[in-house]
Amino acid sequence: MSVSQSSQTMEHQLYFDVIRERRSVRSYDPEIKISREELIETLRQATMAPSAANLQPWRFLVIDSPELKQKLLPIAFNQQQVVEASAVIVVLGDLENIGMAEKIYSQAVDAGFMPEDTAKSMVERYTGMYSSMPEEAIRQKVYTDGGLVSMQLMLVARAKGYDTVPMAGYDKQKLMEVFRISERYVPIMLIAIGKAAKPGHPTVRLAVDDVAFFNEMPKE
Ligand SMILES: Cc1cc2nc3c(=O)[nH]c(=O)nc-3n(C[C@H](O)[C@H](O)[C@H](O)COP(=O)(O)O)c2cc1C
Repeated sequence: MSVSQSSQTMEHQLYFDVIRERRSVRSYDPEIKISREELIETLRQATMAPSAANLQPWRFLVIDSPELKQKLLPIAFNQQQVVEASAVIVVLGDLENIGMAEKIYSQAVDAGFMPEDTAKSMVERYTGMYSSMPEEAIRQKVYTDGGLVSMQLMLVARAKGYDTVPMAGYDKQKLMEVFRISERYVPIMLIAIGKAAKPGHPTVRLAVDDVAFFNEMPKE
């Protein structure tokens, strides 16, 4: 095995460790603060996730103030991790995200990844598509992309030595009201992030045979 092959294998091994070690952690050391810089870097890496047409409809409301975490506690049905964790990230999807198409595609032009006329025609095409798309279809897209970025965020956090738990157990309406989130944003999930005080419970998974089928679906 060449040197570069073996170092590649090692990197892959670390990645598999990260996947194996990520668990939903529900008890955090309240003394641990993650710096804004580190939260920003975690989000930057998370946003390397793929998204439909690279439109990146995810938005993040990062709640790291103790007072605001207390406000969030009853909204998240008193799940203690909300106040113990260093921060809670509200993952949102922007239903009006198509407005960013021009910015994204001109960035690709500036980076030398795309000729200007290609970028222009793609922006026109997507803008046209989105303007005639039912809101439900846009909602589906932001949920899908929001799920991908959330997963990546949790893995990046673990790779940095932090723990997370995704949460759907919260009152969406109250969250929107209390944190003054406008209707253009869809709440996708909350993610608590911090350092575990207690490890997450081990969990099981269905066998691949139960969930994957080759070439045809099983007879019902
Ligand atoms: C969309 C979603 C919502 C979840 N909501 C909650 C929640 O509100 N509270 C909680 O403690 N765990 C929540 N979980 C964590 C799951 O219970 C956990 O991922 C699952 O049991 C598997 O365990 P693991 O993450 O440790 O592998 C949620 C997970 C997902 C993906």
